[in-house]
Amino acid sequence: MTLLIAWPGSEAQTRGLAATTGSSIIELQTRRFPDGEIYLRLLSSCAGQSVAVVAALDRPDEKTPGLLALADALRAEGATRVGLVAPYLAYLRQDRQFNPGEAVTSRTYARLLSSTFDWLLTVDPHLHRYHSLSEIYSIPTRVVHAAPAIADWIGRIVNLPLLIGPDGESAQWVSDIAARINAPWTTLEKTRRGDRDVEVSIPHIDQSRGRTPVLADDIISSGRTMLAAVKRLREAGTPTPICVGVHAIFAGDAYDALLAAGPRIVTCNTIAHPSNEIDLSSMMGAAADEFLAAKPAH
Ligand code: R5P
Repeated sequence: MTLLIAWPGSEAQTRGLAATTGSSIIELQTRRFPDGEIYLRLLSSCAGQSVAVVAALDRPDEKTPGLLALADALRAEGATRVGLVAPYLAYLRQDRQFNPGEAVTSRTYARLLSSTFDWLLTVDPHLHRYHSLSEIYSIPTRVVHAAPAIADWIGRIVNLPLLIGPDGESAQWVSDIAARINAPWTTLEKTRRGDRDVEVSIPHIDQSRGRTPVLADDIISSGRTMLAAVKRLREAGTPTPICVGVHAIFAGDAYDALLAAGPRIVTCNTIAHPSNEIDLSSMMGAAADEFLAAKPAH
């Protein structure tokens, strides 16, 4: 038997994974002490079992200390292997020093998770200057790509789509999605001056005539990238775009601000959010199954 355990907030993804993997879910009791420290208690046995913790790692600073303690508790109770299904993997965007003295948090976070879990499964990690997770993670990792599911959704719902990436980095996702549904694609040019200060320009979107613009990006965090792109496209006279994101972080007022600009907003269910319309459970389940079924190395 293999087991899944949900970190608070990831219960729906855990149920989806259980349905595709045939794993059982074990219950976790959590609460915060008055000073904010976390209390954790496993409510069923995991002795002799291979276990995966399911935790979307948005807001990672709130979750990470507890996740480390949970992995320790699972091992103390006899779990043979403890893996991490992190449909959204945090701390990848600081992938180098942009200014002297900066901490390269992606490396530190990777070292922390690698020393805690036996394996890691995630969806479309933000790999820009790293080519693969193995450059910083020392445990076996597996990446699920959302592009087939996003392409399927666009192909079913959008008439004559034009795929648009809001910046050069998004070309990798946008071109993949577009190729799967035989749609044209392009990218905009982004200048980021601060966390919430983003400007985009449109090099050429001649292909847009008669088509519905679909902005696709991996992460929607402050939402400012999408917002700037929506505004620029509308100024250019295109129909109101549809915004598709893989990871629905939506920090602060991001969701309301983007909704107010008028687009339909659709995301994948890597982070539980009202915009989740694209279900990746079966793809994640298939990948998790391989890890869960593997025998311990020793
Ligand atoms: C950038 O490198 C990413 O692909 C996203 O475009 C970015 O993370 C979006 O961030 P925000 O929503 O804060 O503009």
